[in-house]
Amino acid sequence: MCGIVGYTGRKQAAPILLEGLTKLEYRGYDSAGVAVSDVLGKIVIAKAQGKLEVLKEKIDGGKAIQGKCGIGHTRWATHGVPNETNAHPHCNDDSTIVAVHNGIIENYAELKAKLQRRGYQFYSETDTEVATKLVDYYYKKYGEPLKAISEFALRVRGSYALAVMFSDYKGEIFAIRKDSPMVIGTSGGDCFLASDVPALLKYTKHVYYIENLQIAHLFDGQAQFFNLDREPVGVPLTEVTWDAEAAEKDGYEHYMLKEIHEQPRVVRDTVGYLLHDGNIDFSELMLTDEALAGFKSIVVVGCGSAYHAGVVMQYVIEDLARIPVRVELASEFRYRTLNLRGDELVIAISQSGETADTIAALREAKAQGLKTLAVVNVVGSTIAREADYVFYTKAGPEISVATTKAYSAQLIAGYLIAIKLAEVRGAVSSEYAKALKAELLLLPEKIESILAEQASVQQFAFHTMDKKDAFFIGRGIDYAVSMEGSLKLKEISYIHSEAYAAGELKHGAISLVENGTLVFGVLTQEGLIAKTVSNLLETKSRNARLAVVAFEDIELPQVCEKVFSVPRTDSHFAASLSVIPLQLYSYYLSVSKGNNVDKPRNLAKSVTVE
Ligand code: G6P
Repeated sequence: MCGIVGYTGRKQAAPILLEGLTKLEYRGYDSAGVAVSDVLGKIVIAKAQGKLEVLKEKIDGGKAIQGKCGIGHTRWATHGVPNETNAHPHCNDDSTIVAVHNGIIENYAELKAKLQRRGYQFYSETDTEVATKLVDYYYKKYGEPLKAISEFALRVRGSYALAVMFSDYKGEIFAIRKDSPMVIGTSGGDCFLASDVPALLKYTKHVYYIENLQIAHLFDGQAQFFNLDREPVGVPLTEVTWDAEAAEKDGYEHYMLKEIHEQPRVVRDTVGYLLHDGNIDFSELMLTDEALAGFKSIVVVGCGSAYHAGVVMQYVIEDLARIPVRVELASEFRYRTLNLRGDELVIAISQSGETADTIAALREAKAQGLKTLAVVNVVGSTIAREADYVFYTKAGPEISVATTKAYSAQLIAGYLIAIKLAEVRGAVSSEYAKALKAELLLLPEKIESILAEQASVQQFAFHTMDKKDAFFIGRGIDYAVSMEGSLKLKEISYIHSEAYAAGELKHGAISLVENGTLVFGVLTQEGLIAKTVSNLLETKSRNARLAVVAFEDIELPQVCEKVFSVPRTDSHFAASLSVIPLQLYSYYLSVSKGNNVDKPRNLAKSVTVE
């Protein structure tokens, strides 16, 4: 979703802004723009519909706009169509106040009407123009940027990361956030701001994450922070452990392929984060064994793939730790009558830590007095900061919109939580717990062996690229993986695809199976394999084309056109292996179709609106 950047310092701003926006492209966008103030403080705005390349060309890679202070934006349309007029930055009538904004101003219509009554006119359909003109109104009233921004914050409902330049304050940027991420960095006389760390990594690894309703003032190589009463506040400096190379393609054609191949490392690091010398140590999470043992049930919330990782987590925790778990879509959870109990633990899963619905679900759980555990990839993100306990997945920066390595890391978090819960509750023998932990250490190698077979997946993708529909079926954990495989396919190949609990297919969806429909079966769960095979055969009788992902030693009927074998592992961990061929399949199908793999249409990496 929208990305913002800001720079003020000793260098020309426009090329730095464009570079920062390039690093945020993965978030998804449909137009882009920058604003730069020149030596006299005059602010020049350039915008373009479509890809950043169009904007880059328009301003000659930034050379056409001179000035050392600026802000930039990639817009993912919410209010108004994606065109140049609606693109950010937005400005007041004489372009003396210019702003970029992420998020949604919920009461923008009401504010717009009030401003119109005071003589303001509007050129765009956006809530951001309203935000900018509201700041203008208060600036004209009070003559002071901090006061104008704090008055803005008091009037506005919704979420925002807002960066503003005032031509009266040459070389200075003012910014505020509420429920939308913003990170600020300084380095040798330069100041940067962005909605996400990858935009800053090249310049600094020491960053400030401002809290909700804190104002940042960037000038003269320094960042100062204020509350809404304009009193100075301290914001801790955080070190980012990711390096700039981790956010580069590293010779791969797409980030997605690179990230798929990073999974052995990610799994190793995430296991190694808490598993030391045969012990799973949750002290890093500040979660004691006593507190863990006290939870009587668990609710897992997340969106998209994080929700799918939650479904796997549910099966694994219920089976190993013998504790009731329910998994909920965060967008549904936040608006339901929940009837939560005080002794429940709410686990919020999120790669970005900024997904609006997951944040809202977490807050709802906290408001009801429940303890919350975040499984999050981005250090310092909103969910990480607000949860009681945090499990950091070790995926590193994930750039491709369709998640792969972060999902894999979330699975590992689920296994470690499940084993730990099983241990503190005495639900598994120490021998079995030991065997499970030993098996976790073998997963990276097993994933590597699956990746080594990618050419065969590529071939199958090429031969099936004309398919219009696909089904993914399985039972138990195999069903959970089917959901993720199906989502990957829709996201990047634009093929209609559905995941079904294998036993449910004949209650409706089988009517859609016709000559040549592609049906994937996932077959790893002991006791359920024969049943799913029967369901596959039912589709074969209707002339479906069958492909399966299965443990290598499983006997399969001859009718399967393609078999993706994965090494055997403990069945609780099967998702970590069976998902790999499905990720590769979607990837290669998307490549075969010539799609924009890393930035699929209409999707955003981080969904910061509900
Ligand atoms: C978007 C992404 C998905 C992701 C979901 C949840 O839809 O495209 O890949 O699974 O958001 O994101 P989160 O950052 O909360 O894991």
